[in-house]
Amino acid sequence: MEKKKEIVLSGIRPTGFLHLGNYFGALRNWARMQYEYDCYFFIADWHSLTTHADTKDLKVNTRRLVSELIAGGLDPEACVIYSQSDIPEIAELYLYLNMLAYRGELEKTATFKDKVRQQPENVNAGLLTYPVLQAADILIHRALKVPVGKDQEQHIEMTRNFAERFNYRYGNVFPLPVAFSYGGELLRILNLDGTGKMSKSENPMNTIYLNDDDALITKKIMKAKTDQGPAVENMQKPDYIQGLFTLLRLVSESDVVEKYESDFNQCVIRYGDMKKQLAEDMVSFIRPLREKAQNLQSDPAHIDEILSEGAVKARKSAAATLLKVREVMGF
Ligand code: TYM
Repeated sequence: MEKKKEIVLSGIRPTGFLHLGNYFGALRNWARMQYEYDCYFFIADWHSLTTHADTKDLKVNTRRLVSELIAGGLDPEACVIYSQSDIPEIAELYLYLNMLAYRGELEKTATFKDKVRQQPENVNAGLLTYPVLQAADILIHRALKVPVGKDQEQHIEMTRNFAERFNYRYGNVFPLPVAFSYGGELLRILNLDGTGKMSKSENPMNTIYLNDDDALITKKIMKAKTDQGPAVENMQKPDYIQGLFTLLRLVSESDVVEKYESDFNQCVIRYGDMKKQLAEDMVSFIRPLREKAQNLQSDPAHIDEILSEGAVKARKSAAATLLKVREVMGF
């Protein structure tokens, strides 16, 4: 009998265009994992309500995101792609897990504290229990590996805690999932002024989106923060310079990276040249992804079909888990 493949799950909120952080932190791993694991990837549309209550554009944004995910390497034949809101089983599991999650730990979550700072006028209960819904997303398929960027690590740790509590109280249903990235280390792509992670809500000039055209990519990179150059040999790079080197490493040839590393270490680096090279390589990297995503968007019915086929498969797996959950809980 063929050995069952490990289950992988990850998701993304439909709150804006896909950016380099999403691509390198998550999607690149997803595209590789789909051929090695049993993979579920989904659009976290319920999660987006915690910050974006307006649902008017949700469908359009979801379709666009799915097009971008496929352009970035997801193959609907090789993995299951669906919308969270098509799987009501997740909401039921969320309810049970909410009884096992404590106010203190939810209030201490880093992403919750960030959001309280960013939107003090809308600290809703969904925001507080965001990690519980995320745990339900993962546990509903009894996933083992969760490919995400560094910013999601704490949520995966909380998922393990909720799963352990459930298993201890009611019976062993859930394996304990771990955050995953090829190479071992979870990535954190910085924004272009080095002040924090690249994110959808950031100043758009500090974020490179897979939808940016060639001229805009070049403009953003040429405007990225630099300084007069290192003052002493082999010094540690400031964050904003390190961020540019990280991008260079991701899209440029290794001899190019080595040249600029060595120029930096010898204090002869010319940031203008480095940014020009980075812009050129970034444009070549993004252009085919952008064009493919745009092509896919011209056929929304096809995207809807992918999502409804995905929903059927995801619901099957979710229902099997929920049956076990209800059984051990005595419902
Ligand atoms: P979201 O939509 O913010 O981001 C999607 C994925 O992109 C990664 N990412 C980054 N990685 C590196 N550097 C960055 N600057 C960067 N910005 C974003 C994120 O780590 C993530 O992997 N809560 C999740 C969505 C979610 C989910 C889940 C993920 C809901 N349920 C279950 C995994 C499992 C989120 O808001 O991701």
